[in-house]
Amino acid sequence: MTSLTAPIGVFDSGVGGLTVLKHLCQTFPAQSWIYLGDTARLPYGTKSGITIHAYTEENLTFLSQFNCQAFIIACNSASTQFPSDFHSGRPVFKVIKPGAIQALQETRNGKIGIIGTKATISSRVYENELHRLGFSGETFSQACPLFVPLVEEGLLHDAATDLIIDRYLRPMKEAGIDTLILGCTHYPLLYQALNRYFGPSVKLVSSEFQLSQSLAHSHCVQTEPHTPGHITLYTTDRVEFVKDIAERILLGITQTIEYRNISGPPLYEGSL
Ligand code: DGL
Repeated sequence: MTSLTAPIGVFDSGVGGLTVLKHLCQTFPAQSWIYLGDTARLPYGTKSGITIHAYTEENLTFLSQFNCQAFIIACNSASTQFPSDFHSGRPVFKVIKPGAIQALQETRNGKIGIIGTKATISSRVYENELHRLGFSGETFSQACPLFVPLVEEGLLHDAATDLIIDRYLRPMKEAGIDTLILGCTHYPLLYQALNRYFGPSVKLVSSEFQLSQSLAHSHCVQTEPHTPGHITLYTTDRVEFVKDIAERILLGITQTIEYRNISGPPLYEGSL
């Protein structure tokens, strides 16, 4: 049996999914979360569908030991490879449909750009979801494999990043998109650089807002005032490698955070 105080399990291939978790923490401050960053096996976006699916199964099985009342696959590449909406009898929320819904709400001219890893773009999940939702306009997609290492190097405001953005995205800019789906956990961290490149007429959308709406409607999440929530953050490689960036991404949330390696005692306990 789970109760509303039970945690929600979230995983990503690394710490990029903390951009999703941050929004969820701010929306549901009383909810507790178990986050798994599969840092030992990152990146997922360059791997085959079979491999990504196997990793996804393993991550959900790991999270299921914590009596989670729901799971969130924050990773776009993993979301493309997990068609089911359940695991271990619990609902699984993914990031593709929320991003597609948000894009549909934003577009005025029916020209939507989609960017993501090679795995996400080649799967065409965003196009399929948009069409399932009744979209009949045009889509322009582009894999942007260099964006993840640029973000991980911290080059968020850098001439090199601006150059790569132009290299990848000029065709969709020239095609006149008015909405761009940021279909990868790392890309919200390039929001300002992308916004500078496209200007205010192009809406940059990601999944967090619609995802939190779906969670709120699912009754899986603690929405009533309660004791403040807690985050337990696991990584598959040494957790201290990502502690600095994790703290930077999660800055401002009220939940306490405990950093743990998959096996062994907590390495660090504290609140931001
Ligand atoms: N988390 C991945 C995604 O959202 C990006 C990083 C990776 O390739 O693993 O697709």
